[in-house]
Amino acid sequence: MLRALAAQGLALAVIFGLAWLLAPRMPFWFWPLAQGGAAAFLAYLWGLNRWWLIFQVALPFALVWQLGHPVPAWIYPLALLGLVLVFGGGLLTRVPLYNSSHAAWKALLDRLPLTEGLKVADLGAGLGGPLSYLARQRPDAHFVGVEASPVVWLLAWLRTWSLRSRCRIRFGSLWKLPLGEFHVVYAFLSPAPMPALWKKTLLEMAPGTLLISNTFQIPGVIPETEIRLPDRPDARLLVYRIPGDVETSTSDSQEALKKAENT
Ligand SMILES: C[S@@+](CC[C@H](N)C(=O)[O-])C[C@H]1O[C@@H](n2cnc3c(N)ncnc32)[C@H](O)[C@@H]1O
Repeated sequence: MLRALAAQGLALAVIFGLAWLLAPRMPFWFWPLAQGGAAAFLAYLWGLNRWWLIFQVALPFALVWQLGHPVPAWIYPLALLGLVLVFGGGLLTRVPLYNSSHAAWKALLDRLPLTEGLKVADLGAGLGGPLSYLARQRPDAHFVGVEASPVVWLLAWLRTWSLRSRCRIRFGSLWKLPLGEFHVVYAFLSPAPMPALWKKTLLEMAPGTLLISNTFQIPGVIPETEIRLPDRPDARLLVYRIPGDVETSTSDSQEALKKAENT
C-alpha cells in the first residue's frame, strides 16, 4: 500500500511539472491518464501486481469523477466504519481477509487424521469456507473457528448455521482461544504473527498434534510436510507437528519452545 501511495505521490510531482509547461495545450483527460499511467509504471517497476496497476490507473479518474459529483460528507466515516467492520480484525495483527482456495480445503481434508472425535480449529476463520467444507466432509469431527472482524464473523456464523452442532464460529481474538483440545489447528494469516503462533501452539497443543499453516512459514522451523497448491506460485500448506513423544515426555517440545523464545 505504501509503495502504491508513493507511486501516486511521485507521479503527481512529475505531472505538476508537466502541467506547468503544457497545461494549455493538452485536453483535460490527458492529466488523469498521465497521472495514472506514470503511477502504474512506477508501481510496475516496484514489483506491485497487476491489480495494483489497474488501481493506479483508475484512481485519478475516480478522483476527477468525484470532483464533478460531490458526495455527502457522512459517506466517508460510514465507508471507514464499513472497512473496520470487515477488515478490523486484522488491523493491529497485520492479517487481512483473504480466502483459502478450494484446492487448499481439499489438501487440508487429506491431512486430517482419522482420529475418533477429531477436533479442528481455524484461527482467523474468515468467511468460514474451510470449516464449512471440512465439517461437511467429516461428519465425525468437531470444528471451531475464531474470527475478530464483526461482519466477517457474522457471515461465517450464518454460513455454518446448519452445521452448528459440530461447527462453531466464535467472535474474538485467536490469541484467546485455548488450543489444548485440538488435534489440528489451521491458520492462514500472514508472516507477522507466525513466531508468536508457534509459541502458543508449543505451549498449548499436545505433542503429536498438527499446526497447518497456509503459505506462511514459521521462521527457523522446518515443516514435516509441504503440500504445493495450484493457486499462486508460493501457495502451499505447511504441516508442523508439535514435537515431543506422545506417550512419554515432552522434552522435544520444551526444546522447541526455548528455540522459539530465542527467535
Ligand atoms: C487470511 S484470512 C483467512 C480466512 C480463512 N481462515 C480462510 O482460510 O479462508 C485471515 C482472517 O483472520 C482474521 N484475523 C486476523 N487477526 C485475528 C485475530 N487476532 N483473531 C481472530 N481473527 C483474526 C482476519 O479478520 C481474517 O478474516
